Amino acid sequence: MGKVAAGVAALAACAVAGVVVGRRVRSRRKWKRVVGVLRELEEACETPVGRLRQVVDAMAVEMHAGLASEGGSKLKMLLTFVDHLPTGSEIGTYYALDLGGTNFRILRVQLGGRRSSILSQDVEQRPIPQHLMTSTSEDLFDFIASTLKQFVEKEENGSEPSSVRARELGFTFSFPVKQLSIHSGILIKWTKGFAIEDMVGKEVVGLLEAALVRSGLDMRVAVLVNDTVGTLALGHYDDADTVAAVIIGTGTNACYLERADAIIKCQGLLITSGCMAVNMEWGNFWSSHLPRTSYDIDLDLESPNPNDQGFEKMISGMYLGDIVRRVILRMSQESDIFGPVSSRLSIPFILQAPLLAAMHEDDSPELKEVDKILKETLEISEVSLKVRKLVVRICDVVTRRAARLAAAGIVGILKKIGRDGSGGVAGGRSRSDSKMRRTVVAIEGGLYTRYMMFREYLHEALHEILGEDVAQHVILKVTEDGSGIGGALLAAANSSSSVDNSSRYEGIKKSKDEKMAMIPSFFNNRSRDLIFDPFFSFDPFRDFPMSNTAFISTRIDWKETPEAHVFKADLPGLKKEEVKVEIEDDRVLQIRGERSVEKEDKNDTWHRVERSSGKFLRRFKLPENAKIDQVKAGMENGVLTVTVPKEEVKKTDAKKTIEISG
Ligand code: BGC
Repeated sequence: MGKVAAGVAALAACAVAGVVVGRRVRSRRKWKRVVGVLRELEEACETPVGRLRQVVDAMAVEMHAGLASEGGSKLKMLLTFVDHLPTGSEIGTYYALDLGGTNFRILRVQLGGRRSSILSQDVEQRPIPQHLMTSTSEDLFDFIASTLKQFVEKEENGSEPSSVRARELGFTFSFPVKQLSIHSGILIKWTKGFAIEDMVGKEVVGLLEAALVRSGLDMRVAVLVNDTVGTLALGHYDDADTVAAVIIGTGTNACYLERADAIIKCQGLLITSGCMAVNMEWGNFWSSHLPRTSYDIDLDLESPNPNDQGFEKMISGMYLGDIVRRVILRMSQESDIFGPVSSRLSIPFILQAPLLAAMHEDDSPELKEVDKILKETLEISEVSLKVRKLVVRICDVVTRRAARLAAAGIVGILKKIGRDGSGGVAGGRSRSDSKMRRTVVAIEGGLYTRYMMFREYLHEALHEILGEDVAQHVILKVTEDGSGIGGALLAAANSSSSVDNSSRYEGIKKSKDEKMAMIPSFFNNRSRDLIFDPFFSFDPFRDFPMSNTAFISTRIDWKETPEAHVFKADLPGLKKEEVKVEIEDDRVLQIRGERSVEKEDKNDTWHRVERSSGKFLRRFKLPENAKIDQVKAGMENGVLTVTVPKEEVKKTDAKKTIEISG
């Protein structure tokens, strides 16, 4: 009996061992499958530096194509009509409305002019009720206008609004907009989950202003800008070496300062400063070099905007969590390491970027944060530490790819403008013979500012692509609320009241006998929409960056009489020795000079500093008939007059009638 019992016990032990081994084998097989899914993801997301450089090149090439013609590339390269950035001399109170994500912000900014710059700012942030993101333009703008009105009433605290001028608003609208002028534009399409059908193809400022009227608020929109452009404005306001701005938040995009002559598609459009901010809408960039996975393909197909915003869908905060969710869902379907498949895993966008960042950056030994998020958000409980580590690894792969691609995008811009140390797309110069200048890129957006791992990966890639020698000259600088404050600054820089000659313009516009090809000073007011100057092309930006001190705005009138082109420049306080008038080979008239800064004595107290100082430069391409060897210049009472005689147009005396054949 004893023997039998022992035999049974041995058999039972064997059976148990068999079950255990069987389970282990099965679990190992499952784990292997999951690891297979991970490996596949890792491979598909690989971004070695060689591939990143291909993305850089593709970005620069697409930028060229997008600038050459409308529809020339998936990169829209939208004109912004922002051809001068705030200088620091702006004064007054301006409002800004920042609409571009799940929240909208209203700001009131007081500008104190040079030195004192931004005196104060009041901000209010409100979530946009979910239903308004897909309702009608009227519903959305009525809601915004009434919130704006309450804000204004609260801020102005019952004080009488100025009767002299209406309140002015910088409207930051962060979606692809085809601008018609600095203060109007048509919505091309929605991104970031918005879908208000009746607004697509409509002029957005008109819709907002109509709502402002309905709400009884006396306010006019001075500028319509993208958030990248606002960020560029603030970045440049703080640091004159800022040449581009990037947003990596819910959505992603970049803008940069482009030379007027490089914007082929806007030939003839007059750009006073010689450069314009271009809104790239890089979220829509596409290249076969982008490392695309099956998850990206599915995400795109199921998104409200399939085939659009491919770059954005690999990079921005709205999508990264959803890629991770899709990977976990697949793993969960292929094995039971996450327990039974949670229905939460099928909810699009349930795993938002802050949760992704929290899991990725969880440094507790037990990965408690990961455990919590899996439980609370995805309803996946009791997973082993090994599985939690796997989740962290997925976050890492997805985030690293995103950050590295964003870095490649930034270098693409630098390459296009010749700041990547290689001499530009067409340049054949080697790294060593191109001197690198300090280059600042303003940057905003929660993914970059609040997700450290993302930021570190981005910096690492930037250094890898550029090499240390060049990368040390490239500075990514975080701006604080550029999309809002920058909007207000641009409103100030383009305010009708910041220049005193708007009425003068009206007079000139009516006079038809003098063809005013362009009057730079008027570019500060609304009337500057779509003024074309067929003669124009130049680049003052390269050597005279627009900055608070280095570029003072000199007002110049240019008129054409039957005999000559006459330029008059207001240069009060300048001696004639401080001004240079030159004609360059390719018929470019250049007026430049420098007003020196008044010496500061330690004992002086400055109460007000409004007079500008610094360099100025204005250039004009003269027409074929200009007699450039007979140009005269004179200075009287602070006004410089340059007269460029014209070749006489031979008059035919007799009237000739042409016969019509047929
Ligand atoms: C929009 C851009 C915007 C970016 C960042 C993108 O989805 O198309 O206009 O600048 O998001 O907010």
